[in-house]
Amino acid sequence: MRPADMRSLGKIAPPVGPIAQSHYSIEAQQNGAFRFERADRHEIGSTLGYALGSGKDAVTFIGDFKPSSLVEFRETYLPSLHRWSITPGQEAAADVSLGAVHELGMAQHCVLCHAVKTKPDSMEPAQGFFGVGCESCHGPGAEHIKAVKAGQTNDLKMPDLSKIGASKLDAVCARCHRSIDDVTIDSGNAAETARFQGYGLELSSCFKHSNDRLSCVTCHDPHTSVRTDNRYYESICLSCHSGSASGGGKSCPVNSKSGCIPCHMPARPIFVNRNIPIAMADHLIMAYPGTESSRSSLRKRFTTRP
Ligand code: HEC
Ligand code: HEC
Ligand code: HEC
Ligand code: HEC
Ligand code: HEC
Ligand code: HEC
Repeated sequence: MRPADMRSLGKIAPPVGPIAQSHYSIEAQQNGAFRFERADRHEIGSTLGYALGSGKDAVTFIGDFKPSSLVEFRETYLPSLHRWSITPGQEAAADVSLGAVHELGMAQHCVLCHAVKTKPDSMEPAQGFFGVGCESCHGPGAEHIKAVKAGQTNDLKMPDLSKIGASKLDAVCARCHRSIDDVTIDSGNAAETARFQGYGLELSSCFKHSNDRLSCVTCHDPHTSVRTDNRYYESICLSCHSGSASGGGKSCPVNSKSGCIPCHMPARPIFVNRNIPIAMADHLIMAYPGTESSRSSLRKRFTTRP
């Protein structure tokens, strides 16, 4: 998450002017900010507050912060394609307001999954706490810092995440990356295993049959960016699937040595039936029949607005 002004957005800043095939337009403001407004009634509008999304694929904007609500603007910018698309989830909304107004719990979740804390008496993220930070996973740090300063080495007031076990660790990550409970309760589409990694992993027989040994951290270092070399992940698959009794998993009848990821965790589009070029590795590990596994060939299919 970052402030949605010219300086913070740089190359992914939205173009000023009317948004094609919509009722909206973007106006530049003097301080480098952008205003999202109705193209036919300029008095209806609001400043874009923050941009969510890495910017690689899609940027969704939030703003108009109140003590218990925020607006998720109706158009999402796709920088790589230089075009806009209706924000996922708002397809059915009437084209009159500026976007979805999220109140109370939902507004807070939206910010607290993408930033560490909010400002007092507002849903706006606190300055300096944008994005996922130490406290997002390790919990509040104030008591920890007090304990360190007091030299209390026997109890540093911070749970040791390396010792809590795979299911509990997955729950730390799934608070944001969604577990099976979130997807069922939020009535998310049960087919969305590619969008919600916690949910996908929980459905996998690798997770179910490996005695609390498989967590997000088995494959991801939580302190660095995601690795993209498949060989690295394959070596992890093979630590269980080399056919040895200690690994616990069978070896593959199709290819027992390599190529595991494109066949068993292919990158799949996360917005089913939408013209939005985001594909992510499906964390439901299984044999996929003839799946799309290359993101670049996938992106080629998403060049026009539906
Ligand atoms: C329960 C936690 C949670 C909530 C609530 C949530 N998000 Fe996210 N969001 C995530 C996670 C985790 C990702 C990263 C997805 C990934 O890459 O696996 C993400 C990714 C995104 C992306 C990036 C898509 C891309 O790949 O570029 C956008 C945009 C976004 N969220 C917007 C929002 C907005 C707007 C809201 C509130 C209205 C919201 N999210 C609410 C957890 C959440
Ligand atoms: C995405 C979640 C996440 C974030 C963000 C995060 N950590 Fe961690 N951290 C973990 C997990 C999980 C472990 C346990 C790793 C393991 O089991 O190997 C850990 C372990 C540690 C350890 C113990 C040493 C080790 O590697 O086992 C330290 C120290 C630490 N984190 C500090 C930090 C600091 C400082 C930040 C912020 C700059 C931070 N972490 C951000 C999840 C996170
Ligand atoms: C507070 C919410 C939150 C928690 C908790 C969280 N994540 Fe994330 N994670 C996100 C969001 C949001 C993104 C999307 C990138 C961003 O906006 O920083 C993300 C991105 C990622 C990515 C992709 C990063 C990249 O380089 O593309 C990985 C991998 C990941 N998280 C793993 C984990 C793991 C493992 C844990 C648990 C140890 C965890 N996350 C806990 C919110 C969270
Ligand atoms: C911690 C150990 C562990 C890891 C790591 C692991 N698996 Fe598994 N996996 C298992 C176990 C145990 C089973 C159940 C027994 C079996 O079918 O081999 C399983 C089952 C499977 C199945 C059968 C699925 C089904 O629906 O019947 C496939 C395919 C699979 N794993 C592929 C992979 C791939 C690919 C990776 C790496 C991305 C991986 N596994 C990582 C332990 C693991
Ligand atoms: C068996 C290995 C494995 C496990 C376990 C695993 N992941 Fe992943 N994850 C991958 C692979 C492979 C990728 C694709 C990396 C790439 O982009 O090449 C990936 C990518 C991601 C991404 C980036 C989305 C994308 O595809 O670009 C996120 C976010 C993520 N994982 C979160 C999680 C979370 C949260 C958990 C725990 C619930 C988890 N992962 C468990 C193997 C794993
Ligand atoms: C070309 C695609 C492809 C590659 C590469 C591949 N697999 Fe498979 N795998 C399959 C298919 C298809 C099946 C289902 C076979 C069947 O049911 O006869 C399967 C089955 C499996 C099973 C279930 C075995 C059983 O007896 O139930 C496991 C475990 C597995 N693969 C793991 C892996 C691992 C680990 C790798 C990487 C070392 C890998 N696979 C590489 C396509 C592939």
